[in-house]
Amino acid sequence: MTRVALAFSGGLDTTVCVPLLEEEYGYDEVVGVTVDVGQPAEEFAEAEETADALGLEHYVVDAREEFAALCMESVRANATYQGYPLGTALARPVIAEKILDVADEHDCDALAHGCTGKGNDQLRFEAVWRASDKEVIAPVRELGLTREWEIDYAAEKDLPVEGGNEGAWSIDTNLWSRSVEGDDLEDPTYVPPEDIYDWTETPGGTEAELVEVGFEDGYPVSLNGDAVDPVDLIEELNDLAGAHGVGRTDMMEDRMLGLKVRENYEHPAATVLLTAHEALEQLVLTKSERDFKQTVDEEWAQQGYKGLVDTPLMTSLEGFLEANQSKVTGTVTVKLQGGQVRPVARDSEFAVYSESAASFNTETVDGIEQADATGVAKYHGFQERLANAVAANAATDADAQPTATDGGSEE
Ligand code: ARG
Repeated sequence: MTRVALAFSGGLDTTVCVPLLEEEYGYDEVVGVTVDVGQPAEEFAEAEETADALGLEHYVVDAREEFAALCMESVRANATYQGYPLGTALARPVIAEKILDVADEHDCDALAHGCTGKGNDQLRFEAVWRASDKEVIAPVRELGLTREWEIDYAAEKDLPVEGGNEGAWSIDTNLWSRSVEGDDLEDPTYVPPEDIYDWTETPGGTEAELVEVGFEDGYPVSLNGDAVDPVDLIEELNDLAGAHGVGRTDMMEDRMLGLKVRENYEHPAATVLLTAHEALEQLVLTKSERDFKQTVDEEWAQQGYKGLVDTPLMTSLEGFLEANQSKVTGTVTVKLQGGQVRPVARDSEFAVYSESAASFNTETVDGIEQADATGVAKYHGFQERLANAVAANAATDADAQPTATDGGSEE
């Protein structure tokens, strides 16, 4: 008896994979696995319904906590890829791990996904799965399937693919972001209609709202003074900030295979938490820490985009963050209005800030007087002034300058 675990959403791609895994790949049994990373309830209903109609052995696994925890790690790293807060990207390794667990528990010899050969998700899934000794199967990619072929095949096989979320747009939703792509949106010149948005109101028209986010060691832990766990925090902030139209991104994205794609995202909670977190870092990190951390953050985001979250490099980056974020404890108040989130207050016991040192009203700080800056001011730019003078001289006295041959460099 051979069994294959399939990442199953109940959409067209994964539905046609079920008979194909039996017919084309010769598996005796297919096990469908749907992993909950915060998709809307309708998607689970669709998956259950379709699984029932197919007579598919089907499991739903809740991974919201693991996924939210990874999102909180990404906040510590201020992680965005080209401006995109990585919702789909970070969800994939979490989903892949859960499917691997189910496959082990239910004696599956192989793992399958319904991704095409053009996107990022195939790479993110397989980066996790190929560490196991199970066979990895990608029917859509390997059999070169097109959407039209899948629709015809589904009709011929009488597969349950009618209802559900197969509208004009291709949508991927989880706690951290909602992505909308495909159809007219593929044209970079096409201005999206308002109805592609579901999490964010049209910006404008709302009264400004203040929200206070509390951080501990760089992790967001409270909302308006109340302790809240990551899943609830993200859900609450998606509602709160989405109402003000905060967290829309319309961008050209460079996929891993080199293709540029037009993407639209909604991510209100991510935008609020990333903005607030950075505002707190501005207060508590030294300039050199902030400068260096940009390199760490950028690398974290690049690896996160690739779905490579469990690697030696990530462990090293996390090591830096662990040490560096121990001071990122405090609160930030942000103002939500008109599609914008703006930090308006920040407070921390670790603030590297001396009001008296920065103030215009005090003469002496720690025994340092204003006049002590005179020597610094005299030296400031010394080397550049000298270099400019040498260059100017060289230009005017070009003829008088020694040439390379005068130096006896030729033997
Ligand atoms: N381009 C994004 C990523 O690779 C999201 C793709 C989401 N898929 C979709 N069908 N909308 O992370």
